[in-house]
Amino acid sequence: MFAEIAPRYDFLNHALSLNIDKRWRRLVIRQVAGYLKRPGALALDLCCGTADLSIELGALGATVGVDFCRPMLDLGKKKVQRSDLVVELIEGDALNLPVGDSVFDVVTIAFGLRNLDGTLAGLSEIYRVLKDEGRCVVLEFSRPQLPVFRGLFHFYFTRVLPRIGNAVSGSSFAYKYLPESVQTFPDQKGLARLMESVGFSDVRYYNLFGGVASLHIGDK
Ligand SMILES: C[S@@+](CC[C@H](N)C(=O)[O-])C[C@H]1O[C@@H](n2cnc3c(N)ncnc32)[C@H](O)[C@@H]1O
Repeated sequence: MFAEIAPRYDFLNHALSLNIDKRWRRLVIRQVAGYLKRPGALALDLCCGTADLSIELGALGATVGVDFCRPMLDLGKKKVQRSDLVVELIEGDALNLPVGDSVFDVVTIAFGLRNLDGTLAGLSEIYRVLKDEGRCVVLEFSRPQLPVFRGLFHFYFTRVLPRIGNAVSGSSFAYKYLPESVQTFPDQKGLARLMESVGFSDVRYYNLFGGVASLHIGDK
């Protein structure tokens, strides 16, 4: 699915969110900037896609991006080449990372956790590769909190966005899958509980744009 939409992925991300996605990624960076000042700090951006977040992390410290979709990575690699940052993009499965335990100071995952075949398995793998005193930040779609806004957003997300997204990307299902996958993904509190259950401490979250998305932070 991601291979199919890769060529239009960045354009649709920015257009369908009115560029708010860029602001959300910058909020992730704010949560981890201090960790990347440590000597020799290393960041992992899981499900990095076309590497927008990896590149922002790369501006602060050495970063590895992992994704299992080659066409997304190829687009990301072109963007990395245009920068002079230390960002390595690797093809791999977020559920079975080819690294030992306790390697990274920071692990981020933006709009990726919901797509994994097992949220708990993904969080456990993140916890495994994170160093003690490392930080994980999850950026993901969530549940708008105010009922009126929830209704309006639901209409946009399930009726408007799939039509535009599928028409522009050429996919018949990717942007229909998007709202469906959000509906079956844990809400803010549920995700926080899952993070705690794999061992993260001091788990907290911030609602973004009224809860359309949320930023979950957990420390190891
Ligand atoms: C919605 S995109 C998010 C990309 C990027 N993080 C962003 O913020 O734009 C989700 C990405 O997760 C990747 N993905 C899904 N399951 C994966 C897995 N098991 N291992 C690695 N990547 C995965 C997809 O290939 C896709 O590039």
